[in-house]
Amino acid sequence: MGTPLSPLSPQADATRTLIVVTVALASVIGLLVTGLVAYAVIRYRDRGTGAEPLQTGGNRKVEISYTLIPLAIQFGLFILTVLAMRRAEPAVADRPPDLVIVAHQWWWELHYPGANVVTANEIHLPAGKAMLAELQSADVIHEVWVPQLGPKMDTVPGKPNHLIMEADRPGEYLGNCAEYCGAGHAWMRLRVIVQSPQDFEAWERQQALPPEPATGSAQRGRAVFQARTCVQCHAIQGLALTGNIGPDLTHFASRATLGAGVADNTPAELARWLNDPQSLKPGCYMPRMRLTPDELTDLMAYLEGLR
Ligand code: CUA
Repeated sequence: MGTPLSPLSPQADATRTLIVVTVALASVIGLLVTGLVAYAVIRYRDRGTGAEPLQTGGNRKVEISYTLIPLAIQFGLFILTVLAMRRAEPAVADRPPDLVIVAHQWWWELHYPGANVVTANEIHLPAGKAMLAELQSADVIHEVWVPQLGPKMDTVPGKPNHLIMEADRPGEYLGNCAEYCGAGHAWMRLRVIVQSPQDFEAWERQQALPPEPATGSAQRGRAVFQARTCVQCHAIQGLALTGNIGPDLTHFASRATLGAGVADNTPAELARWLNDPQSLKPGCYMPRMRLTPDELTDLMAYLEGLR
């Protein structure tokens, strides 16, 4: 995972600059103070003569300087911090969000309101565009953090927060929930896929479409999906029910991972996940459905066809 010291957005760059300046300044002061103490300890040590050291009391010049200099340093850091905050968290005003992130125990629900897209756990962004994300929570407090892209921000139930999500260049950047939220906290991964604006638009268009019609084994899998109650928790465009306890699976097969990043989205891992979710992600709310081998085969054919 990248760190805040390798920033890839103006917001993250503001944070990095503040970290570097603060640590550099603190290091210089720390070395200076430690050096002076070491010097005094050695230079004025008891040399066994038994003589009293020179006694002094009060020195106005020294007292004023050791009050004013730290005050000036603090004030400088205050100004730098305010400037960094303004760069990292610009004012939102009444602008509608480009992206809505709803945190759940333990996955991320993602909406692109302008494009009518609902997905999960993998945020797609166009490179170089400052996307305004509205952050919500469906249950407890979580926290969005993609270290290379900028500040952390809590998702608070009942109180939407805002965060600018932006990346200078295409690539994949990893994040994670950064506020302890229960058993699945460590496996609440967030994958940010930054694309060229054209690729992003193509992705948005594709995600807005309903899935291809299921045939054969996949069609039987679609019936399994509904009969074995998967549909109570997961939405798929075109099915009558729209559950929202787990991720929307309309384009499940187009995602790189499953279980919010707990495993790669491969047939072997998907079979493991459907057979026993708890073995992959302990504590998660997906129940063990005890599918027969035929049901599993058909369900997998259906899910893997959801491109
Ligand atoms: Cu969600 Cu920690």
